[in-house]
Formats: sequence, structure tokens, C-alpha cells
Amino acid sequence: MSIYTNSDHFRSIETPFYYYDTDLLQKTIKTAQKGLGNGPYQIHYAFKANSNRRILKEVLKFGLGADCVSGNEVNRAVEMGFDPRNILFAGVGKTDKEIKLGLEHDIFAFNVESLQELKVLDQLSGVSGKKTRYALRINPNVDANTHEYITTGKRDNKFGITLEELNLAIPLIKSLEHTEFIGIHFHIGSQIMDLSRFKELVDRCNEVQRLLLDHSFELPHINVGGGLGIDYDQPEANSIADFKGYFDCFKKNLALLPNQTLHFELGRSLVAQCGSLIARVLYIKPAERTSFMVLDAGMTELIRPALYRSFHFIENLSSQEGSVVYDVVGPICETSDAFARDLSLPETKRGDMLAIRSAGAYGEVMASQYNLREVVPSIFSDDFK
Ligand code: LLP
Repeated sequence: MSIYTNSDHFRSIETPFYYYDTDLLQKTIKTAQKGLGNGPYQIHYAFKANSNRRILKEVLKFGLGADCVSGNEVNRAVEMGFDPRNILFAGVGKTDKEIKLGLEHDIFAFNVESLQELKVLDQLSGVSGKKTRYALRINPNVDANTHEYITTGKRDNKFGITLEELNLAIPLIKSLEHTEFIGIHFHIGSQIMDLSRFKELVDRCNEVQRLLLDHSFELPHINVGGGLGIDYDQPEANSIADFKGYFDCFKKNLALLPNQTLHFELGRSLVAQCGSLIARVLYIKPAERTSFMVLDAGMTELIRPALYRSFHFIENLSSQEGSVVYDVVGPICETSDAFARDLSLPETKRGDMLAIRSAGAYGEVMASQYNLREVVPSIFSDDFK
């Protein structure tokens, strides 16, 4: 049962809540796998996008690996039944405690972000008596042409090491005894709509491969991160991202070595469109230019508009009549707590139910309890079958 086509069944549920369309989630993952095709390729789902257990359960059914960025995410992956051999642990600031946790679980690999981290990893591995697999994250200095806060592959971003550093680090890498250099890792940013950005990343990957081959490193793994964007303006018409175009860009242009596996870390493109934040209208309040539509959900449930000024399509599920311009705002005591300004919507009244679309990624996971607000529940379409 879909909330968008028949919201009657959902009327009695207290708002706000997150709603997930399980069918769309499954269809999206299937399309991604089809777009990827057979070969030495693997997708690791980026837990950070949404670590709701029921989402993870679906992801697991399709055999994806896990891309984790905290000890708690690693624990969640293990608890959910992800095979440790399919768990990656990334992040620029792993604590010793988190590294030890990854070692205990004997995960597939650490994505290492600095040479100091590499030395710590080697030392902790020595203590634990293990030889630890790791990939080095390289900062390729590629502009992802996305919001500056989610741009990660430019020289002045905090992520990874530069190519020059890599060159200088070769003797160190060779000297370490408790770690095994198995791959290179990249991630240039998120919500990337311009596929040419990925082509530029591939060019950098090929350069790094050549450099490493010159030093006799034939690495078994290349990880190109995630970042594929989705259509926030038209979530219905474009509910599934262009996975084929995205994967083809790598498959056609990356000089993969024999016996090398290509890894992807996709988050947003797999889960964003299957989720909506469902809210009710509390008040319609006259304003200078437009009317304020005050919702019972705000930046505490979905911070993306306040943090990045990002747009999420808003749909009135109770009424389709007329057209009025509103500023759609939340109840939190900050002016940044707004979902949209000057937005034309059907004439809306107190009690109407709204869907704030494309909220399945970086929605629930970024929620806070500012103003001592409740953690909101999540509801799945298959609860109503
Ligand atoms: N791999 C690494 C190393 C990452 O840092 C990220 C996302 C991903 C993979 C997954 O990227 P995706 O496929 O989801 O684009 N809170 C922001 C997004 C932050 C993304 C952080 N890194 C937002 O709401 O737009």
C-alpha cells in the first residue's frame, strides 16, 4: 500500500514519521545490480545514508557489502548479519577503540585516510597479532561540482592523502609488518549529477595505478566510493538513478588489472527515493509576502534544507485543489528551520498530511533531539499489505 496513492490507511498514525516504500527500495537495488552487471565488481552500501535496521535487512538480502564509518556502524553491520569479509571501515578520525573493534571482527579492510593513521593501524595490528588489510584513500583533487559541504575530493578537503604524499610514503608502506596494502580508495563527493566528474576521477585512478605499478604494487582492489546523485525535483518521474550510465563510466574507462576487483560505496542513490518524511500542517499563518505553513516536523527530523539549503519535493496528500504560495516551515526556534520558501502548493489547511519526498538518505540518520523533541518512528509500505 503506497501512502502517495492512498493515504487513508495512514491517517490515524501520529505524525511526524518516516515512511519507506519497500517495493521501490527493492526495485532500486535490483536496477543497480543489473546496471552493474556481472564481473569483478562489488557494491558496499554506505550505512551512513540510512542505518535503519529494516533498510539494512533489505540491503543484506541482495548481498551487498557494508561501508561503515564508525565503530557503531561496524557493530550494526555484524549484528545484522553482514559477513565481516564484506565490511569496509572508512573515516578520517577512527579512534583506537574503533580500530580495535574492526580488528576483532577481522573485517575485509580499513580505508586509511592518513599516514599517521596507517602507523597506528600497523601498531595496533601488531599488538593483536594480526596482519590487517587496508586501502589507502587518495585525494584525487577532482571537483565533484556539488554542494561545497559534501565535496570531498579537492586538495583542500580533509580526506585522504595526496598523490605526492603517496609517492613519498612508498618506503613506509613497504616497511610495515602488520598491515597489508591491498587497494586504493577514492570518494570525490555526494549528490553528483554530472557524470563527467566520475570520468575525471577515473583518469586520476588510472594515473595512481600507473604510479603504483612503477613501484611493483599490483593491488587486488580499487574502490571508487559513491556519490551518484538523485533527482530531488522530480522524485516520481525519476525514482531510480541512472545506475547504468554511472557504472558504465567506470567499466569503460578504468584500466582494471587482471584479478582486480572494483568496489563502489553507494548510499544516497540506493535509499533516498524510497523514503519520505510525513508531517501534518499545524497552522497556516499570514506573512508579509506569502503564508507560513507551520508543520509538526522540522529540522530535527530532516536537517538537509537547513544545513545545505537543499530542496525536497513537497506533496500535499490530503488536498490537490487550488494553488497558493507558502513558506513551509518547521516548529523549531530557528529561522533556518524551513523546508521551502515561496513554494506553490494546493490550498492547504490545518490537519493536512504532507510528504516531504526523497528523504530516505541522510534523513532519519541525521535527526536530532534539539528542543528535546521525540525520535520519530519509521513505517514501511509492507506493514500495510
Ligand atoms: N563513501 C564515502 C567515503 C563517503 O564519504 C560517502 C558519503 C559515501 C561513500 C556515500 O556517498 P553517497 O553515495 O551517499 O553520495 N549528509 C549529506 C551527504 C554526506 C555524504 C557523506 N559521504 C547530505 O545530506 O547530502
